Amino acid sequence: MNKITAAITAVGGYVPDFVLTNKLLEGMVDTNDEWITSRTGIKERRILKEEGEGTSYMAIKAAEDLIQKKNLDPKEIDLVLVGTATPDLMVAATAAKVATEIGATNAFAYDLQAACSSFLYGMSTAASYVASGRYKKVLLIGADKMSSIIDYTDRTTCIIFGDGAGAALFEPNTEGEGLLDEYLRSDGIGREFLKMEAGGSILPATEETVKNRQHYVYQDGKSVFKFAVSNMADAAAKIMERNSLSHEDVNWLVPHQANKRIIDATANRMDLDHSKVMMNIHRYGNTTSGTLPLLLYDYESQLKKGDNLVFAAFGGGFTWGSIYLKWAYNSNN
Ligand code: UT7
Repeated sequence: MNKITAAITAVGGYVPDFVLTNKLLEGMVDTNDEWITSRTGIKERRILKEEGEGTSYMAIKAAEDLIQKKNLDPKEIDLVLVGTATPDLMVAATAAKVATEIGATNAFAYDLQAACSSFLYGMSTAASYVASGRYKKVLLIGADKMSSIIDYTDRTTCIIFGDGAGAALFEPNTEGEGLLDEYLRSDGIGREFLKMEAGGSILPATEETVKNRQHYVYQDGKSVFKFAVSNMADAAAKIMERNSLSHEDVNWLVPHQANKRIIDATANRMDLDHSKVMMNIHRYGNTTSGTLPLLLYDYESQLKKGDNLVFAAFGGGFTWGSIYLKWAYNSNN
């Protein structure tokens, strides 16, 4: 019997309608379009403005898009995983709400949190459940409403992040396609450089923490940048080496969208032509858990069965890594 691997068999996506352009940001903080574009590659990002709605709103939309495109009966879904750093509530899994709303009434559901690596790590989790033979349909969603934890008076963070969600369905494959290798790492040293200080068990919310703006993301950008560049590139290079992939064998790099300069450095390290690098940072900014599935959503029509994809991400914690996945379908069929 052929070995069972876990392949992505459908993708979906959703970004909110409101477009926060660099021009609009110029009116909010001391910045300018030229600085943001040259330092990050970002031109605009989407912001969820719907009153009273959180991350689940976008996760549900992305999942519904996938379900409709795939013509999938949601009752067949065994497990719903939501990768997010901005759950609807601190207690009560966002994934449980999503599963119920999309009609996945036979599924169990839970959240995964690894900051910007949530979707990458989630791919490993989803694929392990499927490859073990335990479950047949695992829906992995990456979704974040970053605008809910961003300080729009801090020009060093508010220019980077945006809101969005993407979804991917993992199913068994016996033809050698799907997730073939992974290299995942973490280092707690990262907590010092990228964090939301208050609202957790160390520093629960008080009037003081609110006054001190400790419920917003703090980032030492320069330090994070250095770690991100070296670790994301190393991880991608390692995956290529381990699987004897030359730059010619790789069809696509699917990189976390935090900064175009980090993406370029990773592609250069892989000796990869930039036409093979998926990129949408200029339109959405850094959507944290949403970046990788939103790339698949945007590039789906260009992907062919048998394409070799190298995923790479780096995020808070620190968390980072790379995944080698062989694409399993032609979307135009
Ligand atoms: O996704 C998870 C992980 N996160 C990342 O990977 C993000 C990694 N970090 C970065 O992408 C970059 O460090 C940033 C985009 C956050 C910042 O870019 P940078 O090139 O590292 O800028 P910097 O922090 O070194 O600041 C350079 C200068 C400073 O001015 P001085 O001290 O040289 O006079 C900043 O005050 O640019 C200034 N600056 C700005 N100027 C205009 C910082 N933010 C802005 C801004 N507009 N928005």
